[in-house]
Amino acid sequence: MSPAQPPEIERILFTEGEIAQRIAAVAAEVSERYRGRQLKLIAVLKGSVFFLAALAQRIEVPLKIDFLAISSFASSGKPTGVVRIAKDLDEPIEGEDVLLVEDIVDTGLTARYLLQTLAGRGPNSLAICTLLDRTCRRLVQVPVEFRCFEIPDRFVVGFGLDYRQLYRNLPYIAVMRP
Ligand code: IMP
Repeated sequence: MSPAQPPEIERILFTEGEIAQRIAAVAAEVSERYRGRQLKLIAVLKGSVFFLAALAQRIEVPLKIDFLAISSFASSGKPTGVVRIAKDLDEPIEGEDVLLVEDIVDTGLTARYLLQTLAGRGPNSLAICTLLDRTCRRLVQVPVEFRCFEIPDRFVVGFGLDYRQLYRNLPYIAVMRP
């Protein structure tokens, strides 16, 4: 049984079925793009793990999985783009086709930092696949090759995304009450 809808949830933006459908479509795009190659999926803990699991099961090329954990520094509640790697990858990525799996690209600061860091390790190719994209809040341009949903300027939770570490387990994506 799915968890009951918490009272802090204003409305559901994407249902479990809609999410599964979009992930299958994006996984097909990824499979097409990397046909004949082997892929390394890198997920950023913790928000991306639900997306990673669903996506990886639908991708049809051979793939490996690795994880990164980061902490972001904010100043007066605003993101600074200063990110620290709290848990690094287990394996090198030199010469590999790497797909960075993100829960959400918002200002783009985190994704830009991760792209720069990973690019410095000599992968054969490097691209971003994100569950959610909120381009209206972008501060820096980052190339997002694969995206499931574009979302409006509202804080969302569920399917891995949290508010103070809660709500990650909701099977849908929902807007929080302000
Ligand atoms: P960026 O560096 O501003 O692109 O922020 C990316 C990170 O901010 C994501 O990986 C999330 O952890 C967090 N974040 C941004 N917007 C939301 C949201 O609406 N809900 C939950 N987390 C969010």
